[in-house]
Amino acid sequence: MNPMLSAPGRVEAVALADVAREFGTPCYVYSRAALEAAYAGYRDALTQHGLSGRSLICYAVKANSNLAILNVFARLGAGFDIVSGGELARVLAAGGEAKKIVFSGVAKSRDEMRAALQAGIHCFNVESLSELHLLNEVAGELGQRAPVSLRVNPDVDAKTHPYISTGLKSNKFGVAFTDALDVYRQAAKLPNLRVTGIDCHIGSQLLDPAPAAEATDKLIGLVDALAAEGIVLQHIDVGGGMGITYQANDPAPAAADYLAPILSRLAKRTEQVVMEPGRSLVGNAGLLLTEVRVLKPGEVKNFAIVDAAMNDLARPALYDAWHDIVKVPQVGAGGTAIPQKTYEIVGPVCESGDFLGHDRDLALAEGDLLAVLSAGAYGMAMASNYNTRPRAAEVMIDGDSMHLVREREKVADLFAAEKRLP
Ligand code: LLP
Repeated sequence: MNPMLSAPGRVEAVALADVAREFGTPCYVYSRAALEAAYAGYRDALTQHGLSGRSLICYAVKANSNLAILNVFARLGAGFDIVSGGELARVLAAGGEAKKIVFSGVAKSRDEMRAALQAGIHCFNVESLSELHLLNEVAGELGQRAPVSLRVNPDVDAKTHPYISTGLKSNKFGVAFTDALDVYRQAAKLPNLRVTGIDCHIGSQLLDPAPAAEATDKLIGLVDALAAEGIVLQHIDVGGGMGITYQANDPAPAAADYLAPILSRLAKRTEQVVMEPGRSLVGNAGLLLTEVRVLKPGEVKNFAIVDAAMNDLARPALYDAWHDIVKVPQVGAGGTAIPQKTYEIVGPVCESGDFLGHDRDLALAEGDLLAVLSAGAYGMAMASNYNTRPRAAEVMIDGDSMHLVREREKVADLFAAEKRLP
């Protein structure tokens, strides 16, 4: 069973059928306990390696930026990895501390740099020479010295989906490993920068830590080479990327096992260790609750048309990603047994790519509830209004309480900012 479900159809002490009754569907449902457990996995691994006193877990906001989720992590003492001025504003609104924010992203704007400098963030993860010069200029205008880390592209194959692989020479990310020393030398000479760290992020949904360990070795080699030249760094940021279980019989490694080869390398050193996990903190702490609207038997396929669609959860359409889909037991269900069939689980959007799962064996009736599991990461965060569909409600379960943490959008809001011609 998915770690988020305490029993079939239940999250913590709440029945999903009650969530649907109260808030409607489609609806993202999160578990506070599951978020806290995932965070504890990181904290415990750091403690095991003697790193709890000199480390910072920066939750990658892009995975799920709901204020309630950010606030749960802020309360646990987390930092945040942001990639836009919008994410900066969210973290601050959620109660996150500016001095624990690292700012990643390949092309930050002047305004974004200014806002982050004014807030007083921990560090800018700079990805190019051009960005370095722009940041130097913006910091100068504010009379500040910007804390800088270079995102180095270690040219390591993360062996994950090509769309979410970021550490190869052929990717747009980071400063090439072979140029890094030279770019650091230039950074050290710029008057309005303070060179403080190094970072990398080689990809997402990694199930084997070997590529990340190899990247860590490469970073360490650079840090030592820089120190020999008098450029002494205070932190090493190993990025995010730890994978999660999407399919019950295809388990991902436990955090302690995945992180061990990375952290053991850093434990021998003195720099602060920064990490940027996204998916592994929220992915299995969220699900998408949806109702079966129409069952449509076909000659070659049986379709179950549900009320969630590719605009709510884009991952299947975009990456051909698998999410387990389970039926939510209805309270008091019984009566005539429904035959199990193989279904295409699809949404109401007008595209054949609008599917949530292929070939799922389920016993379904119209009106049944389904839970699309492991949808806490890159689910709502990537949702759109395609087909003028209001984005789903979001609910967080905490013990026996359910909290509406984002209202379902209203149709009128979707075009409120649009204007007709005069
Ligand atoms: N740091 C940086 C610089 C990143 O670009 C990312 C993710 C992370 C950290 C967090 O990585 P994680 O721990 O979540 O693997 N939409 C895709 C995933 C895109 C990941 C982008 N970068 C998906 O749904 O699979």
